[in-house]
Amino acid sequence: MNGRNAGDDWWRHAVVYQIYPRSFADANGDGIGDIAGIRGKLPHLAALGVDAIWISPWYPSPMADAGYDVSDYRDIEPLFGTLAEADALIAEAHAAGIKMIIDIVPNHTSDQHALFQAALAAAPGSPERELYVFREGRGSDGELPPNDWQSNFGGPAWTRVPDGQWYLHLFAPAQPDVNWRHPAIRVEFEQTLRFWFDRGIDGFRIDVAHGLEKNWELPDLNGLAFPLAEDAEHEHPHWDQPAVHEIFREWRAIADEYSPARAFCGEIWVGRPQRLAAYLRSDELHTAFNFDFLMAPWLPGQLRSVIDATIASHAAVGAPPTWVLGNHDVCRPVSRYARDQRLLKPMDRHLMDFQDLPADFDLGRRRVRAAALLMLALPGGAYVYQGEELGLPEAEHIPAEALQDPTWVQSGGTDKGRDGCRVPLPWTSAGDSFGFSPDGAAAPWLPQPEDWAPLAADAQDGVAGSTLELYKAALKLRRELGELGDGTLEWLDAGADALAFTRPAGAGSAGFQCWTNLGSGPLALPAGEVLLASGELTEDGLLPSDTTVWLRG
Ligand code: GLC
Ligand code: CA
Repeated sequence: MNGRNAGDDWWRHAVVYQIYPRSFADANGDGIGDIAGIRGKLPHLAALGVDAIWISPWYPSPMADAGYDVSDYRDIEPLFGTLAEADALIAEAHAAGIKMIIDIVPNHTSDQHALFQAALAAAPGSPERELYVFREGRGSDGELPPNDWQSNFGGPAWTRVPDGQWYLHLFAPAQPDVNWRHPAIRVEFEQTLRFWFDRGIDGFRIDVAHGLEKNWELPDLNGLAFPLAEDAEHEHPHWDQPAVHEIFREWRAIADEYSPARAFCGEIWVGRPQRLAAYLRSDELHTAFNFDFLMAPWLPGQLRSVIDATIASHAAVGAPPTWVLGNHDVCRPVSRYARDQRLLKPMDRHLMDFQDLPADFDLGRRRVRAAALLMLALPGGAYVYQGEELGLPEAEHIPAEALQDPTWVQSGGTDKGRDGCRVPLPWTSAGDSFGFSPDGAAAPWLPQPEDWAPLAADAQDGVAGSTLELYKAALKLRRELGELGDGTLEWLDAGADALAFTRPAGAGSAGFQCWTNLGSGPLALPAGEVLLASGELTEDGLLPSDTTVWLRG
């Protein structure tokens, strides 16, 4: 690897591939992805050229929220495999030059976790209950929830237990929030960090990192919306509480004890660049997903202001930006970009936000290819969610009876939730389940759209112009060119409908440039060698709309 991307600070420039283990590859034929499936696909990941993989939770779980309800943080869910298989995967990934990040879920445990079971079995006011957030209800008989907080999946954030107390869950009732003021909780999670660092894991993605601390007086929200306004002086009672930073300072100190130092990436939805950057101060987290980019409509002005605000706020704390177009919680970008971008509202990211708008999926795919090259040319690191390299769209028509996301039930059947981006991957254009499971296996845990054969990995592998080959070429160039990855950018004057920038590499650089045309007509390019383009240039060498090109000027 070249110049500034060499050395131990791999997280400053890494391209990390997100594996959602239930849906990646099923080796044993039960219709659910597993660790053996991941091991079998390491050659695909190595050929793709990613630097690291992040695996969504693989711990024992009753699967009330597809694994984000963890009942034991130091073991492997039997559906996925064994600890020995996890160790083998870590070793094989490392041998292939791929780092391994796993998910830690510290805001809540499963209701089946031993600590919550002990809390339920113990009396109100007992030390066991102190590890979670139990309170008396309001109303004459305690029959009303302690406050007006709402679950992220819909409905109240409180559930009542038989002795009359209520417990807090910002997500599903099967995901009770833990009490981060309690020293035993801190010790518990620190032990989990060390358990996996000792096994060779290179880092953690931290689930709901902005949620761990609360205003422990538990005041009502009284309609307070989140994110707060940029200049708000008050705090939100359960998101982005200042005390959360102490926790991450403690975690950073642990990561720094290891060599090479381990890294964190926070899942932090705060909507304010400065507040996000506060988590990335040099003694806190290394990186955090930049969701403003993910939510930005495909419009030049908005993309540019998100890019500028992100780079400026991260530079102020010396952290690299981390770009992301999709994940297991949001509508696949092909389907978001397929809609009229001027009709999207700020924060729109779920299918439900725009499913009624007309969609042009060819346009969506053209834009997503252009967005991928734009993202991969920006300074910092990037995440690729499984299936993005195949150009998969959201599965928009999963029948109601097949839906699994707790959002569907908790919203009273009004929000289909996130299953549409979690459909098992198509590996082969032929065969049952498009090669997700062996032939003759149980049906995949979510049904796959029937028209996915042309999107399968084997239908794109080695095929010039396919989305898979575009990703491979881009990641290969990212490794070869000294300018990409960590660093800065300089905007070029490209008019109001385009985004164009260079990646300065110091004296004598031949000058890498990235040009994205977001206008309606073709755009003239400067002289230079075309390194890669997300679509064909016109016959006279112009850049068509919704296309990105990498040039050496
Ligand atoms: C995060 C996860 C999401 C999960 C939630 C609760 O947002 O990405 O999938 O439902 O946390 O753990
Ligand atoms: Ca399986």
